[in-house]
Amino acid sequence: MKRLLVILIVTLFAAAATVARISSPTVREGSAVTFTRDVAPIIFNKCANCHRPGEVAPMPLTSYKEVRPWSKAIREEVLERTMPPWFADPHNSTLKFNNDRRLSQKEIDTIVAWVDAGAPKGDDKDLPHKPNYAPGWTFGEPDLVIEMPIDFEIPAEGELPMQNFYVPVPFNEERWVEKVELRPGNPAVVHHSIANVISLPEGTRIVNGKAIKDGSTVSPIRGVPARATGGLSEGSSREVFLSQDSFTRAGAFKLVGQAPGKGFERHHPGTAKRILPGMYIQFNMHYQPTGRPEKDRSRLGLWFAKQPVTHEVLTKGVTDRIFIGGKELVEIRKVNGKEVKVRGRIPNIPPHADNWEIGGEVFIKEAITLYAFAPHMHLRGKDIKYTLRWPDGREQVLLNVPRFDFNWQLHYELAEPLRIPAGSKIVALAHYDNSINNRYNPAPQKEVFWSEQSWDEMFIPWFEYTVDSKDLTKSEAPQSASKLK
Ligand code: HEC
Repeated sequence: MKRLLVILIVTLFAAAATVARISSPTVREGSAVTFTRDVAPIIFNKCANCHRPGEVAPMPLTSYKEVRPWSKAIREEVLERTMPPWFADPHNSTLKFNNDRRLSQKEIDTIVAWVDAGAPKGDDKDLPHKPNYAPGWTFGEPDLVIEMPIDFEIPAEGELPMQNFYVPVPFNEERWVEKVELRPGNPAVVHHSIANVISLPEGTRIVNGKAIKDGSTVSPIRGVPARATGGLSEGSSREVFLSQDSFTRAGAFKLVGQAPGKGFERHHPGTAKRILPGMYIQFNMHYQPTGRPEKDRSRLGLWFAKQPVTHEVLTKGVTDRIFIGGKELVEIRKVNGKEVKVRGRIPNIPPHADNWEIGGEVFIKEAITLYAFAPHMHLRGKDIKYTLRWPDGREQVLLNVPRFDFNWQLHYELAEPLRIPAGSKIVALAHYDNSINNRYNPAPQKEVFWSEQSWDEMFIPWFEYTVDSKDLTKSEAPQSASKLK
């Protein structure tokens, strides 16, 4: 009896499996799934942009010969939805993204069915043309390339602190950047990097790419304790970064962030980022030793606006107000004899905390148009959500990243720019996992400070926007660079 039951169950399972197979939309009647006809188009379109020689992924996936040995791993990665990397939760974000790389369920089914069938090659004549990936710059030759000032030598081992290199802005009038790309000189060692436009204190000299003032290096870490600035840490140029907190035009901003699979931006027609003369390009470099001594000299490519710019693209963090455990962090400070309310110091994340929460808020004083998000956290970053509170109190989830991954500092570009009326609020809520369950956690037993080092933490829910009323073609007197210094 027992045996019969087992047989029955086995038979049932087999029947269920057969049904599942037949009902799979990708397995066509009488023809197996093949690489050349069914799988290659997916791999070429969704994987090979990173998985090709000279790009970030560890192995190329541009032919049957290259893909076949990886078939089992590919099956796993696509089923887990860890490849292609994309972390926005489609069920909870109300917006669509331009650069959404997710595979459709049908594409996943096709890949799985192909691997399960033994990864057959198929007929060569079915093979689609390989996309013609031009090597090098994403948008062709830039109008201007700014190089890191030195070949930086990365030792074979050890944890390297973040490095900043500076180059004076090499032009004498303001320039409008409509496309930008930051390219690692050596992708193997650059974990991620950021190009910022900043000002440096009066009397700073650049020596070998480092900013020197009064004989010592201007460092974002030394001097002002970075943690006191709530993640917007930038040592001596801190005021510049903080002035960005206002919705007015500011001379300092994040130009572009680079990480595997990202590092280039194209702004909507008529919008661009403004670089003022007298400023500095800061290469903010996060290196990861490879086991061999390496060198890197990253490059920044700029494409200037070819048509009139009506609106300046601004970048800002959702950090005007900070909330811990739902309570706003404020301190009263005396400034010029007057008591003013300022943002308080963010407490450190306690050891072993597995779901430490921080919130940020920005009040929208003037109508804006929103283009993109780039949530930035470090190794303890666990999840982050951007919500819009409309003036009438309605809430709309803009971006939800339920599983944040430090290794993929993605930039989420809206397919349709979003108009946000005055009186709205953008709210960001994030959690950090400093427990042993977080496999990237370098030290769960330690409290976590706030700084730019990846073993410390940051909370910068970046977003990019333009201010609707600030139409540059209608404003009279353009602000000069000297005013900003
Ligand atoms: C944005 C760039 C990018 C895209 C797009 C991408 N990959 Fe990857 N892939 C990487 C990088 C970088 C790694 C190595 C680091 C990691 O595993 O996260 C990787 C790792 C992998 C691995 C694991 C290799 C190992 O060592 O086990 C597999 C399998 C894989 N990718 C398959 C795919 C497939 C299939 C697609 C398309 C459906 C794809 N990838 C799309 C960048 C990318």
